Amino acid sequence: MTSSTNEIPNVPLRGGTAIPQLGFGVFQVPPEDTADVVVRALRAGYRHIDTAAAYRNEAGVGQGVRAAGVQRDEVFITTKCPNDEHGYDRATRALKGSLARLEMEHVDLYLIHWPVPAHDRYVETWQAFIDLQQQGLAREIGVSNFQPAHLERLIRETGVTPAVNQVELHPYLQQAALRRVHDELGIVTEAYSPLAQGRALGEPAITAIAEAHRKTPAQVVIRWHLQLGNVVIPKSVTQARIEENRDVFDFALSDDEMAAIEALDAGDRIGGDPDTFIRP
Ligand SMILES: NC(=O)c1ccc[n+]([C@@H]2O[C@H](COP(=O)([O-])OP(=O)(O)OC[C@H]3O[C@@H](n4cnc5c(N)ncnc54)[C@H](OP(=O)(O)O)[C@@H]3O)[C@@H](O)[C@H]2O)c1
Repeated sequence: MTSSTNEIPNVPLRGGTAIPQLGFGVFQVPPEDTADVVVRALRAGYRHIDTAAAYRNEAGVGQGVRAAGVQRDEVFITTKCPNDEHGYDRATRALKGSLARLEMEHVDLYLIHWPVPAHDRYVETWQAFIDLQQQGLAREIGVSNFQPAHLERLIRETGVTPAVNQVELHPYLQQAALRRVHDELGIVTEAYSPLAQGRALGEPAITAIAEAHRKTPAQVVIRWHLQLGNVVIPKSVTQARIEENRDVFDFALSDDEMAAIEALDAGDRIGGDPDTFIRP
């Protein structure tokens, strides 16, 4: 494969930067292993790492970037404000704490991890995000696990639209209605748990497509995300899978294959319900 077919496309964001459409997630990567996993991901060609304060592995992400010898401006780093750090002052301190752990001057994208509607402080948190972006501490600001009503309220009350909404999205939870809302509002859809944490990979419709292309089920699912236009951030600590998940730019799914995966939608959530999830 030539390097040109292997290149990861960038998706423009409203703050003026661009996010690599394929990134690498580090949820559930143990803190002590994170630097090594990040080095291996960067060596495999990923240039976008998705972490969160709640994952307790931001320090390893920063160490991995430096150990890999990748320039700071060549890698896109996302982290997230935890649920127990909502509110203007707390969110401001939370980002500064993340930057200290990452040992970085800024993040490329800072997300409100969950809306936590029961605490009703996500609008105030967003006000802090707007100022943090103006101060240059976060190049782009966005949200995660926001429902349409939460997005609409943020925009109505602050006038500032999130660049990204990172949501659970995979063949069993395709989020078509939410994706339409994102398109209308100019918000980029970012898919988390994109492989349904591995559960989608034994699905007969997917294994059949994989066989037809001589690719793996994970590559087919990642390719499906890319063709939908999603930013996608699969996680793996396994060397062969890190490389496999990166190798998705030399084939394309047909309309029929896209439709066969679309037919798997069941509205099945693996993670928390955004309307009620509250854990830090
Ligand atoms: N915003 C949020 O609330 C939120 C919530 C969840 C996740 N996320 C983000 O999204 C990222 C990805 O989601 P996720 O970690 O939940 O799930 P995922 O990426 O859908 O799946 C990860 C699981 O699939 C396995 N896997 C990866 N590639 C594979 C392959 N090619 N073949 C077979 N198995 C494979 C991994 O195993 P091994 O690691 O053992 O190889 C791991 O068990 C996270 O790391 C995090 O950055 C965000």
